[in-house]
Amino acid sequence: MTVYPVAGSKWVDVQKGEVSRDVFVDDGIYHTELEKIFNKTWGFLAHETEIPAPGDYVVRKLGIAEVVVARDRQGKLQAFLNSCRHRGAQVCRADSGNARNFVCPYHGWTYDQTGALLTTTFDKHLPKDVDMSALGLPKVPRLEVYKGLIFGAWDADIVPVASYIGDFAWYLDPFLSRSPGGMEVLAPPHRWRAKCNWKVGALNFVGDAQHILTTHVGPLTLDPVRAARSGFATAAENSFQVVDERGHGCTLTYLAPGLPEEAYQTHPKDLDQIYRETLQPGQMEMLNRLRVIVGTIFPNLSFIETQVGPAEKAVIMRQWQPVSGTEMEIRSWILAEREATPEYKSNVLRKGFHNFGAAGVFEQDDVELWASATLASDNTIARQFPYSFHTALPYLNNPDEAHQGPCKVFRPADTEVAQLEFMRRWGQLMEPIA
Ligand code: FES
Ligand code: FE
Repeated sequence: MTVYPVAGSKWVDVQKGEVSRDVFVDDGIYHTELEKIFNKTWGFLAHETEIPAPGDYVVRKLGIAEVVVARDRQGKLQAFLNSCRHRGAQVCRADSGNARNFVCPYHGWTYDQTGALLTTTFDKHLPKDVDMSALGLPKVPRLEVYKGLIFGAWDADIVPVASYIGDFAWYLDPFLSRSPGGMEVLAPPHRWRAKCNWKVGALNFVGDAQHILTTHVGPLTLDPVRAARSGFATAAENSFQVVDERGHGCTLTYLAPGLPEEAYQTHPKDLDQIYRETLQPGQMEMLNRLRVIVGTIFPNLSFIETQVGPAEKAVIMRQWQPVSGTEMEIRSWILAEREATPEYKSNVLRKGFHNFGAAGVFEQDDVELWASATLASDNTIARQFPYSFHTALPYLNNPDEAHQGPCKVFRPADTEVAQLEFMRRWGQLMEPIA
């Protein structure tokens, strides 16, 4: 029996293929993560199309700090802490909207769309030498846009977001920018809470092909279209996992061979033409063979593209927001190409949330089991027994050298290599070598 004490422990043992359960339930580890991971990495804040006009804003989290992401009068993106400089109240209480100024509901301090303080309403009582310009809402020190995604970072010295995503962009870009107009968020995100650690979601999306046929047996059996197209068992052999040393990863499941010809026309033909204008031939080939791709950009932004109707594929962005050692808040956005027809967008939105919204058929399957695993793991007896990632081990040092694309690629798709590599990266940041 392996016992992993919390303090000074080795939480991730890549060689043995084991990860301590503490990592998924412990509040002390959660607080360390906020400092060592969420204060040191890029975090997704919003999609540009959520705030297209001057004055538009959304309220989001960067780590666990709440920030307002706004477009100012000049059309420039701004992000600042949503906590008043007077006594800390949340200056903006709505999830999203359009505002000329932000007036704190407590005593009325008023800030503009850049977070600058305009008035305290009691300016006449301020000392003459007080510097109003130093009392604005603290800005997120780094703010960058990558293919429509707005990222922020608390670490002013972090590498540019394009370098942070690195070679993984080759796999990611076909889902963010595959048409001249780019992607568009179709509706405000669904938001809900789950009683499990944020990494459970991140790992599920980076590469947990093993849960599909058991966890989701219900919808797969009940939906004949999906069942006919899925062929997961055979497709796993032709499919693969991608691992990037920065902790990003994805699992690509290709359509099984031998299906009727029309099964391989998974996107509308007019969109297919548009993709060719933007994507490289290798990316185009990947897109056309895909049944489903799921992936995670380290640490907590995931994405999935999957069939949601006979000729509709939805792109879904997911964020696993830490709340405590055993709770997270999930946000889920549905995207489509800006050039798509209104009818196509409306189908993608409705069917996308039907599958992956807060009450989505797949979501219900997953979240119930994630909470169950957390409940069963969060006690001093269970915590003595690490989680098994053993099916990664025979493959870990054997990447597919013949593969043409960037990053490390592993076959088949239904092992735990991508999950263990995600945990390796997590361990490097949490327990840096002195
Ligand atoms: Fe905002 Fe007092 S806390 S004005
Ligand atoms: Fe699932």
